[in-house]
Amino acid sequence: MKKRIQDIDVSNKRVLLRCDFNIPIKDGKILDDSKLIASLNTIEYLIKQKAKIIILSHFGKVKTIEDKAKNSLAPVAERLQSLVNTKVIFSKQTRNMYLEAKIESMNPGEILLLENTRFEDIPNKLESGNDTQLAMYWAGLADIFCLDAFGSSHRKHASTYGVAKYIPSCIGFLVQHEIEMLDKYVLNAEKPFTIVMGGAKVEDKVELIESLLPRCDHLLITGGIANSCLATLGFNVGNSLKTSDPAILNKIKNLLIKYKDKIMLPVDAIICPVYNEELIEHVNIDKIEDDDVIYDIGMKTINKFKEVINSSKTIFVNGTAGKYEDMKFATGTRELLDTIANSKAIKIAGGGDGVSAIKHFGFGEKFNYLSTGGGATLEYIINEGLPAIDNIQDE
Ligand code: 3PG
Repeated sequence: MKKRIQDIDVSNKRVLLRCDFNIPIKDGKILDDSKLIASLNTIEYLIKQKAKIIILSHFGKVKTIEDKAKNSLAPVAERLQSLVNTKVIFSKQTRNMYLEAKIESMNPGEILLLENTRFEDIPNKLESGNDTQLAMYWAGLADIFCLDAFGSSHRKHASTYGVAKYIPSCIGFLVQHEIEMLDKYVLNAEKPFTIVMGGAKVEDKVELIESLLPRCDHLLITGGIANSCLATLGFNVGNSLKTSDPAILNKIKNLLIKYKDKIMLPVDAIICPVYNEELIEHVNIDKIEDDDVIYDIGMKTINKFKEVINSSKTIFVNGTAGKYEDMKFATGTRELLDTIANSKAIKIAGGGDGVSAIKHFGFGEKFNYLSTGGGATLEYIINEGLPAIDNIQDE
């Protein structure tokens, strides 16, 4: 059991809080602030405890100097200020004497958000390379480290992992809640347990599929992943997205044989030729031609999957059935999510596009739990733990 924030005396202490504020922002406008909202429990607790709250977060991918300009956390600082009843100071620096002076002059209960931790990756990858000096410097700014960035806990970075070596550490309420929900609903799911899996790349999911198959009763595979599965069974999937990696294809083939009673694949599809997206057709899966691209599942598949969904006690959604952002190819994803949302089963979603699609179609309220993690949620399910969480001191 990891030390929790409520197990440590944080009052009037300087707390270095690692959040995951990597939220979708377009043209300076925040599109979805759920991860920010989910972080408020810990932040508000620290405000009440009159801690000086020093927040670290990464934002986007920062690989070049140009990436810095489009990946500032400044809009997040502004939104955070509108959500809390205390002063939020934004530091454009991730490391220097001005930052230290700002921390020195903070009043108890105030927040200081540092600029994107990944700015330290230019030029020497200090954050993502878990540089010792950087981790020590950030740890030196505070008395206690609190990890509340569940979505980043699969990364062994200086701000998620390195800092915990130098000061007492604990997990925040968001991380505690994620662990509790994923353990209860996914790792110890009530049966029949059905997983609805979709998404583009099978490479990203094959390990997850392998680790989930022994635990679940049904695995309904859709999206790009289904294309690779169908291809290994000898179906022509035309010009659709699929893997050509022989090792992955071989692994899938073995899983399809071993778990043939649990795995269900699409029997029909919505397709169009690669040269014209307007020539949409509904075909059985054995009628796809070389020029065709699969963009969604068809009605026969939807109805088959619905039967399984309606007889399940737990459903875990990971990924989407098709290119749902385009109205022409949204039916499969929408229909499956509608059925899941209105079923009596416990419903959870995490990782990949699934959560975004659930919110897009307005089903969020009907789910028992929507994980804040992407890759982290998948890794947690596969390994039943994450490096940055495992690294936190025990009770
Ligand atoms: C996420 O959005 O999944 C997390 O913030 C992790 O982001 P990353 O994949 O860029 O590390």
